[in-house]
Amino acid sequence: MLRRRTLLLSALALPALSACASTLGAAGPMAPLPHDASSHARPDEARVRHVSLDLAADFDRKVFHGTATLDIVARPDAREIVLDSDGLAIRAVRAGGRETAYELGSRDEKLGSALTIQLNGARQIEIEYESAPNASALQWLAPAQTASNKRFLFSQGQAIHNRSWIPTQDSPGIRQTYDARIVVPDDLKAVMSAEMLTPDGEPAGAGRRAFRFRMPQPIPPYLIAIGVGDLEFRAVGPRTGVWAEPSVVERGAYECADMERMMEVAEALYGPYRWGRYDVLILPPSFPYGGMENPRLTFLTPTFLAGDRSLVSLVAHELAHSWSGNLVTNAVWADGWLNEGFTSYIEGRIGEALFGAEHARMAEALSWSDIQRALETVPADGQRLHWIGEVDANDNSSAITYDKGALFLRTIEGVVGRDRLDAYLRSYFDRHAFQPMTTQGFLADFRQHVVRGDAALEAELKLDEWAYEPGIPSNAVAPVAGGFAQVEQAVAAFGAGGPPPAEWAAWNTMQRQRFLQTLPRALPAARLQALESAFALDSIGNMEVRFDWLALAIGNGYEPSGPAVERFLSEQGRGKFVRPLYRALTEQGPWGQNLARTIYAAARSRYHPIVQAGVDRIVAPA
Ligand code: BES
Ligand code: ZN
Repeated sequence: MLRRRTLLLSALALPALSACASTLGAAGPMAPLPHDASSHARPDEARVRHVSLDLAADFDRKVFHGTATLDIVARPDAREIVLDSDGLAIRAVRAGGRETAYELGSRDEKLGSALTIQLNGARQIEIEYESAPNASALQWLAPAQTASNKRFLFSQGQAIHNRSWIPTQDSPGIRQTYDARIVVPDDLKAVMSAEMLTPDGEPAGAGRRAFRFRMPQPIPPYLIAIGVGDLEFRAVGPRTGVWAEPSVVERGAYECADMERMMEVAEALYGPYRWGRYDVLILPPSFPYGGMENPRLTFLTPTFLAGDRSLVSLVAHELAHSWSGNLVTNAVWADGWLNEGFTSYIEGRIGEALFGAEHARMAEALSWSDIQRALETVPADGQRLHWIGEVDANDNSSAITYDKGALFLRTIEGVVGRDRLDAYLRSYFDRHAFQPMTTQGFLADFRQHVVRGDAALEAELKLDEWAYEPGIPSNAVAPVAGGFAQVEQAVAAFGAGGPPPAEWAAWNTMQRQRFLQTLPRALPAARLQALESAFALDSIGNMEVRFDWLALAIGNGYEPSGPAVERFLSEQGRGKFVRPLYRALTEQGPWGQNLARTIYAAARSRYHPIVQAGVDRIVAPA
């Protein structure tokens, strides 16, 4: 007892020691940070700690204009602060209320421009600016692209896009609180990843309304997010609800009915939810991701609305980020697995608690297969959890970051036991709450609290091999999913010429996906036709299943599904679905290449800039 207290006291009494960069142990406004190659900021000299936005959304010109006022902490000798920006038109900069000198550096293709501002001793600066119409974080939708036939705007900050609409230090290690006043046309509502102070807005003149927000917890700047549209709210629990366009909100509320239970499961495992409310915003179909964990307000693709709650693991995933990612955050994107791998592991734990062990084993088996595919296709250098060398923050192989990351934690769980890992993770989130984390910091922390010098345990875990080496270490255990045994038999039977499996009707989404993903890749047209007509795959409502089917059909050059491919690629713009199908089409000779070009020529303008950039690299113009 005495001993423990002594340890505690000495830890408190030695802030300088615990501030050492390798453990990232110190909180505090100027705690040292590892170098972030994705940001121009020099946070060891001067750091943004609060962002105050006063912006108007101009839908005609597709720009935000107004001011960002930044509170700064700086070394006493700091003369300037360096911010990230991309495409911003700077009108004026004031430091401590007076006009000050600034310099907008040349634009780097990936990083944008450094905005260097003379502080003149001030610790608050105000930037008057306007974003560019093609800001990479923003998508301004025309009425035809929304369910309401009204205009819509949303932002997507991760990884390094927010600098295209907010001049701040856009590095995940630098935490900032924020508040905002946002002016929008008065037929629309604004929502943000923050506490909403004016749910109905306030009159702002000229047919406009203003909405105010406040995020009192310090967050990495990629989590600042906004949505503007014809939005309605439905509560689904005491602290959970759904924002969506009116014609979508009912279906959204149905699909999200389990959110409160998910929160309770996550809280029981990892400690209190620290963000107040947990709402979701269902976006129009051009939202480029499945989901984005913006604090207090997860952004979701409408393609997860399956009508039967079968794709809610997406919500479990984004909710899990409330601990892994939003509370303890990768300090640099090279350690993205600390966000996504941990989150995928927690997503699995939430799924297991809600839907049972068998459900969880099936998800793990699908994930295991994704890893195996990645090991065959991703070069060794791309198979490490901690990326080394040239790192592109917008580019990651999800099977490594997500699935290998989660498998690492499941392997640790298998070795140390579930209770011990749960207790450790809970304390990890508590001790590092609202702080950045590195791979090195996590391993040091885990060794300090769990391994504690046990050489046999250390050898059994292979921690460094998992974190720093390509491939999958030998202590990984392949999951066994009983529910997939009958799928395997069905694949064999169908592959041997039998009829489409009668069990299909009783299978869940993962079993159907497993079936479509493990069928022989080469199938004759008659066999594909038999499948399609048995299960109406060209138009099946579950978009994950439809995607797996269309990938199989395209891979076989199955022309009768061409119109279904066109519909799928025109109706939604989720990168995970869109990119692989265009890629598969372009690998199919003239039929596929022509189809890809025709579909893309019509659909491109409706895709998000992030997805456009990806597909531009796949589909060569005619
Ligand atoms: N944070 C990610 C989305 C993201 C990743 C945005 C990388 C920008 C760069 C989000 O939590 C996520 O992982 N979404 C997944 C869904 C999940 C269930 C795997 C997606 O969008 O598919
Ligand atoms: Zn995620």
